[in-house]
Amino acid sequence: MITTIEELRRWSRQQHNSQKRIGFVPTMGALHDGHLSLVKTANQCCDSVLVSIFVNPTQFGVNEDFHQYPRSLEDDLRLLQTVGSPEVFVPNVTEMYQTGFDVSVHVGGVSQPFEGKIRPTHFDGVATVVLKLFLASGADVAFFGQKDFQQVCVVRKMVTDLNVPVEVVVCPIIREPDGLAMSSRNKYLSKPQRSQAVVLSQSLILAEKMILDEKIRDVEIVRKKIRSKIETAPDMKIDYIAIADPKTLHELTIINFDTVILIAAGIGTTRLIDNVIITTTMS
Ligand code: PAJ
Repeated sequence: MITTIEELRRWSRQQHNSQKRIGFVPTMGALHDGHLSLVKTANQCCDSVLVSIFVNPTQFGVNEDFHQYPRSLEDDLRLLQTVGSPEVFVPNVTEMYQTGFDVSVHVGGVSQPFEGKIRPTHFDGVATVVLKLFLASGADVAFFGQKDFQQVCVVRKMVTDLNVPVEVVVCPIIREPDGLAMSSRNKYLSKPQRSQAVVLSQSLILAEKMILDEKIRDVEIVRKKIRSKIETAPDMKIDYIAIADPKTLHELTIINFDTVILIAAGIGTTRLIDNVIITTTMS
């Protein structure tokens, strides 16, 4: 396990000196099968795999769950042994943000709507820590989950606009058997909340059916269907149901060839997000 940036750079240099391609999976820990799927994909594409575990304070708002965020390093390390024992980078907050730290990476456009409206400082924190981690790790390829679709858009934009020499690979959403997208925050859900949470993925399946089978193209009809499905869960409070172009995140009025549906809702004090990408044929 590596805990300092200096040590990480040394490790990275060694890998590159022996012609190894570094695959990097950034995480905040409390690992589950979603995270592990990224590591498995990295194992297939790269010679050396690095996982970072760092609960990044700068991406949490003042009233958010930074202090409560689940931390389970021992379990995480054990889980990582089941997927080929990648190298692990576990810095503490002062290693990543030394006293006087005063730089922030701000991505425009794609970071503004949806999560960006509700969590205005979130994506600056994500872009900043991801760039720091990319630089310190010398990653050649980095693996992200579609689960955080808007985060992927923000990271891709940062990589493109700053010419960061890292290839970004996006991996599918891993779900619980009933369809709930896996998330470290699912641990917060009480039993009754957990059983209500399934309406999110169910609403996306209904929307996908409407678009692909019934050929509905009017986003308001699709949005209404999603809303009424989510509202069958009495404690679920919808933050947004966005139907957008997956490249620009501009909202649509008519379903496109490629469309992303992004939903976010709160239940109790927990926020849950989910999404689906739908590709229609021309017929
Ligand atoms: P975290 O929420 O720990 O997620 C780490 C990575 O795992 C992200 O790329 C996320 O999209 C992916 N992931 C989470 N749940 C998933 C699921 N059910 N299926 C597939 N992939 C899933 O995202 C972050 O941490 C942070 O913002 C980070 C990028 C590490 C920066 O701090």
